[in-house]
Amino acid sequence: MNTLVDDAKQHGSAVGLSVDRITINGGKPLQGRIELKGAKNLVTKAMVAAILGDTPSVLKDVPNISDVRIVRGLLEVHGVTVTEGEEDELILDPSAVETAHMADIDAHAGSSRIPILFCGPLLHRLGEAFIPDLGGCRIGDRPIDYHLEVLRNFGAIVEKLPSGIRMSAPNGLHGAKVSLPYPSVGATEQVLLTAVLADGITELSGAAIEPEIMDLVNILQKMGAIITVDTDRVIRIEGVDKLDGYTHRALFDRNEAASWAAAALATEGDVFVGGARQAEMLTFLNVYRKVGGAFEIHEDGIRFYHPGGELKPVIIETDVHPGFMTDWQQPLVVALTKAKGVSIVHETVYEQRFGFVDALVEMGASIDVHKECLGGRPCRFGQRNFQHSAVISGPTQLHGADIEVPDLRGGFSHLIAALTAEGRSTVSNVGIIARGYENFITKLELLGADFELEG
Ligand code: EPZ
Repeated sequence: MNTLVDDAKQHGSAVGLSVDRITINGGKPLQGRIELKGAKNLVTKAMVAAILGDTPSVLKDVPNISDVRIVRGLLEVHGVTVTEGEEDELILDPSAVETAHMADIDAHAGSSRIPILFCGPLLHRLGEAFIPDLGGCRIGDRPIDYHLEVLRNFGAIVEKLPSGIRMSAPNGLHGAKVSLPYPSVGATEQVLLTAVLADGITELSGAAIEPEIMDLVNILQKMGAIITVDTDRVIRIEGVDKLDGYTHRALFDRNEAASWAAAALATEGDVFVGGARQAEMLTFLNVYRKVGGAFEIHEDGIRFYHPGGELKPVIIETDVHPGFMTDWQQPLVVALTKAKGVSIVHETVYEQRFGFVDALVEMGASIDVHKECLGGRPCRFGQRNFQHSAVISGPTQLHGADIEVPDLRGGFSHLIAALTAEGRSTVSNVGIIARGYENFITKLELLGADFELEG
């Protein structure tokens, strides 16, 4: 069976989504209000951090998405008791952490890359850790070399087995001087989750400083860690002997906020995104305004809307924070098909994140992808045959088509495309969207989308 279909079904069923396909009658503006919960890219890491505590942790605002289900399953096979507290709250008790079998880890990990982040905490607690072959969205090679190098720096012994990787730390883990070749989000989290209980001081240079990472730092500080974040991508961690559990309300999901904002613009709608905040979205908001979108910042969220008039083309380069996030480009590209003129999106974080545009082209968009670094500065993918710059000419009117979700953010952009298109579209493999968008079907309903679900 097609693994993409399998993957979609697995993600959908994890959150009770029993359908694979949505048929959307496009052309209706999205209007109304939706509420955000905690960020997928923080919540899943915060759940792993609970392993480090001597007492239970309480995480609030946890979204019902399949990536959370996967991490919950992984924690449970490692002996962590996970219970649901008050609304959207998880209580994570690590007092009986134990080694899990590779087969169990593999069965629970599905296509997630999260198991790699279990390594530091498990090495501290148990002296060993296993990780299966890792998946994640199909948006490039997504290697784990930085992670393995980081763990080796702390003194871990890494053995490659036919079924995955085994790590051990017979002499414990020790603070280290670590320098990342690229400010990787995951590798920075790896350093944080490992250094907090390592013996001595760790100095990380070339760190990623995404708001989700800063929220993880907040959590670790609540647990008892000593972490200093400098302005030059240097993070210093003084290892401590023990950490306690935390109680924390997760940072809102700014990637979801940007996705609904793009949907409001592309459908000429008006969406209030409850829980969205300005500070973590400054860069997105600037681009949104340049394209011709309007927004109002409120205390309890941000209203995103199309103020009328023509949309304008832009040149964007995705980058690490505080740049324009790679996860924001796919939904926004759909709105750019409606802008008058030529827009350029230069993707500098992942080498293959334009697979989703094929479907948009089939629907009538004019998008060409190039291997050159268009739009400004050269990036590490230039001269390497990766189709990582997109040129979008508009305005074009999209028309309905049968399309298939390729990955999480690309999938959401397909939903937006179908919502803006003239006529009917069928979007299949929508289960993948459940990895990171909580209750997206209910939210579409709330916003007045015209659609039917198919099994
Ligand atoms: C996180 O992925 C997010 N995932 C991604 O969100 C997000 O797009 C990305 O950060 C960038 O912001 C989660 O938080 C679960 P990286 P991560 O390590 O940590 C290369 C979404 O849709 N690299 O910052 O895996 C890598 O190939 C997802 O929500 C290595 O070469 O990203 C990429 O080109 C998708 N070796 C670049 O670094 C390594 O060992 C940045 O990746 C690690 C990474």
